[in-house]
Amino acid sequence: MFIAILGRQPALGATELERLYGGDRTRWFSDRAMLIESDAFDFNRLGGSLKAGRIILQTNGNWQMISRTVVDRYAKQWYGIPHKITLGISAYGFRISSRDVQKTGLLLKKQLQQCSVSLRLIPNTEPALNTAASHHNKLGLSPHKIELLIVRNTSGRVIIAESIGAQNISALAARDQVRPRTDAFVGMLPPKLARMMVNFTGLPEEFDSSAAESTSRLCILDPFCGTGTVLQEALLNGYSVVGTDLSQKMIDYTTENLAWLRQKFRTTGEVIALQQADATTFQWKPPRAINAVVCETYLGQPFSAPPRLEKLHEVAGNCNHIITTFLRNIHSQLGDAAPLVLAVPAWRDHSGHFTHLPLIKHLADFGYQRIPLHHIHPEQLLYYRENQVVAREILILTKSPSTKSMRY
Ligand SMILES: C[S@@+](CC[C@H](N)C(=O)[O-])C[C@H]1O[C@@H](n2cnc3c(N)ncnc32)[C@H](O)[C@@H]1O
Repeated sequence: MFIAILGRQPALGATELERLYGGDRTRWFSDRAMLIESDAFDFNRLGGSLKAGRIILQTNGNWQMISRTVVDRYAKQWYGIPHKITLGISAYGFRISSRDVQKTGLLLKKQLQQCSVSLRLIPNTEPALNTAASHHNKLGLSPHKIELLIVRNTSGRVIIAESIGAQNISALAARDQVRPRTDAFVGMLPPKLARMMVNFTGLPEEFDSSAAESTSRLCILDPFCGTGTVLQEALLNGYSVVGTDLSQKMIDYTTENLAWLRQKFRTTGEVIALQQADATTFQWKPPRAINAVVCETYLGQPFSAPPRLEKLHEVAGNCNHIITTFLRNIHSQLGDAAPLVLAVPAWRDHSGHFTHLPLIKHLADFGYQRIPLHHIHPEQLLYYRENQVVAREILILTKSPSTKSMRY
C-alpha cells in the first residue's frame, strides 16, 4: 500500500488518485494524505501529489514514540551496510518543530557511526522537507537515498512510509516557462493542473499491445489547445493527441512547443493532428477515434480585480455561449463512454464568493452528466491562487445515457 502527500489543493490530488485507481482502492488518511491500494501505482504519472511512499509501518503514538521506533528500526536495518546513506525525514500532522525531526535523524546518525556507517542527513527547515529539497537530493530514487514520510492523522494513527519520489519540479518548470512559446493573454495553464486533468479522464495507460506502436495509443483531443499544455502532458503520459484552436497563431505555438517537448522528453504517443478550427462548429475527423476530450476552454478576458457586475455578466454570458455551443457541437461526435474534462471559468469576488457559469446547472439539458466521485464533492474542483479573480472550475463529464431530454 502507498501513501501520497497531496498538493496545495488536496481535493484535486484526491480526485486524480480516485480516477486513476478507483474510489474503492483509494481513501483519505488525513486532510493532506491519501492511501492507495494498487500494485500498479505510478507516482510519476501524477500532477496533484507532492510525494508518495511505500507504507512500512502503521502504528499509533506521539513523536517521541515514533522517533524511537524509527531510530531502532533503521539502526538495525542499516547495521554495517557498506554504502553511505542520504536520509531525509518529513513529518506531517505532528505538533513538533523542525529541530525535533532533526534530532531523530541525528540520533540515528550517531548509532550508525558506531558501526562505521556514514549517514548524510538532509537538514529540516520545517518538520517536512519541501518538495524542492526532496527532488534535488533525489530522495526515494535509489536504495541509498531515503526519505521517511511520517504522517499522523487526527485520530492519532501514524504511517511510516519510505518515499518513492517527489514531484519533478524542474521538469514541470521547464514545461511551463522554458518551452519556446507561452502567451500570457490566453492564460498559463500550469502543467501540473494539465496533467491532473489528463488523469481525471481515468483512461487506462494500457493500449492495444497487438497493434503497431504508432496506432496503439488512446487518443485525447484538446479543442481549445492554446499553447498546447494539455497536449504536452497527455503525450508524456503515453496518449496520442489531436489539438485544434480558433487561432492559427496558437496552432503554430503548439506545433513548436510539442516539437520541443519531443526533443527534451521521452514521449510515446503520436501527434495525430494540429489544426485551426472553431470548436463550436468543427467536425473532428481524426484517423482514429477520440477516447477523451481534455481542455481549458475559453476563459474570457483576464481580470486583475473583480469586475463590475454588468461586466461580469457580459463576460460570463459570452463564455457560457461559446462553451455550450461547443458541448452541443461535439456531443454527437463522441463515443458514449468518452470522458470530457473541462476547465471552465468561475469568477471570485472580494469576499471569496464565486460566480459560476449558468451551464453548470443545466448539463443534463445538453446531454451530459458528471462522473460520480466518492471522495470529494464536485464543487471542490476549483483551481485558483489567492490573488486570482478568474478561477478554473473543473468539470468531469460523460454523455448522459439517454439524450432524449436534450434541449437543442
Ligand atoms: C484559455 S486558452 C487555453 C490555453 C491552453 N490551455 C494553453 O495551455 O495555452 C483558450 C483558447 O481557446 C481558444 N478559443 C477561443 N474560442 C474558441 C473557439 N470558438 N474554438 C476554438 N478555440 C477557441 C483561444 O484561441 C485560446 O487559445
